[in-house]
Amino acid sequence: MSLLIRGGTIVTAERMARADVLCADGIITAIGPDLEAPGGAVVVDAEAAFVMPGGIDPHTHMELPFMGTVASEDFYTGTAAGLAGGTTMIIDFVIPGPTESPLDAYHIWRGRATKASADYSFHVAITGWSERVHAEMGILAQRHGVNSFKHFMAYKGAIMVDDGVLLNSFARALELGAMPTVHAENGEAVFHLQRSLLAAGITGPAGHALSRPPAVEGEAAERAITIANVIGTPVYIVHVSTEQAAAAIARARATGQRVFGEVLAQHLVIDESVYHHPDPAFAAAHVMSPPFRAKHHQNALWAGLASGQLQTTATDHCCFCAPQKAAGRDDFTLIPNGTGGIEDRMSVLWHHGVRSGRLTAQEFVRITSTNTAQIFNIHPRKGSIAVGSDADIVVWDGAALRRISASTHHQNVDFNVFEGMEVTGVARHTIAGGALVFTEGDLRAVRGAGRYIERPCFTPAVPRPAALDSLVRGA
Ligand code: URP
Ligand code: ZN
Ligand code: ZN
Ligand code: ZN
Repeated sequence: MSLLIRGGTIVTAERMARADVLCADGIITAIGPDLEAPGGAVVVDAEAAFVMPGGIDPHTHMELPFMGTVASEDFYTGTAAGLAGGTTMIIDFVIPGPTESPLDAYHIWRGRATKASADYSFHVAITGWSERVHAEMGILAQRHGVNSFKHFMAYKGAIMVDDGVLLNSFARALELGAMPTVHAENGEAVFHLQRSLLAAGITGPAGHALSRPPAVEGEAAERAITIANVIGTPVYIVHVSTEQAAAAIARARATGQRVFGEVLAQHLVIDESVYHHPDPAFAAAHVMSPPFRAKHHQNALWAGLASGQLQTTATDHCCFCAPQKAAGRDDFTLIPNGTGGIEDRMSVLWHHGVRSGRLTAQEFVRITSTNTAQIFNIHPRKGSIAVGSDADIVVWDGAALRRISASTHHQNVDFNVFEGMEVTGVARHTIAGGALVFTEGDLRAVRGAGRYIERPCFTPAVPRPAALDSLVRGA
């Protein structure tokens, strides 16, 4: 099966040039001017459009069992919605309970994901520590293509881990050449504030943001970075939402520490005022962690992306419909945490990033696919337009307009946090695994067409703990 993308301008992290792209059997086989279409090839029009690597969303939670319910978007509907917005791969999360086996959980999630219509991979969460967890991290890394492990510093009483688990798991990840990742919020502080707010009679969604002030994230980010430094491992901080956490990352990077930061499209454009909306259901629909913030934090996140101090963008796509959110009607701590956005990330970033002059088109490619592919070791198979790369491509109309709405989106959720937003920048065609899966508004996602993508470990680095450095220097 072959497909020719004709007449577009290729944009990758390295270059921008007019050229056609030929794909066969799921791979890019030729790039150049005026390529011939082989007999029977599908020809895709890219005139006046950009031809870019398909988006990679490194942070999604399809059909996640969480806070007493299950996320409404499954691996099929969620990846299909992603394709409609130009995203051709996700990295989702396997999340075992604290006493459950990460390896067993991994197999359960692999089973759930067989229905995906786009390629997928998994970070595996470490939610407790034992010899068995230590051993299974090795099996996952060496036999199952898992090169990243997630740690929740929040969600006390559920999946939160303490510093002891972070230290053990970070050290094990370093040994394996895997990347530790963290949800950075001080879960003890959140728990304490939640109790105080409820005791003071604050039960509505506004309490959610009050219980998770910026300092709670800043402290946890600093701590995770410090622990990573003590162990001598790189670390990746998910959903950075505050200037405190962004500054902690930038400071560590300036000392040579390998710290990476991810930003959600939602945090870049939505602020904390949503929690004061007169309709509590509207406010509850925005309950996610970390919460939406005061506007000045958005500036810090944009600056981080533009400067390269923050590297990736994601959505943390974790959808709950109104009846699910209603579980916390009388107690904000019971509102299932999560919002969606996989279908809209690329458009929101193009509109507010590129069209507003904050980012170049090449920077857009870096933060929507290439950096993720490099950090999680699947580049140049993913995140690139090069001969031999997977034919995961978006033909992007950078001037087309779209109005975002839950009434027209493909996401399996009854709410859209970007509702009513007019965005410039639309996927004209999406090609995944060499197949035309979205074209001019027509979604042709195929259930089960997505493949599991193994991510090999990096060569384990020589551990160089900060403590050792200062001993050597006699500091
Ligand atoms: O509110 C959120 N983000 N829900 C999903 C779980 C997580 O913390 O990433
Ligand atoms: Zn196995
Ligand atoms: Zn999180
Ligand atoms: Zn998440």
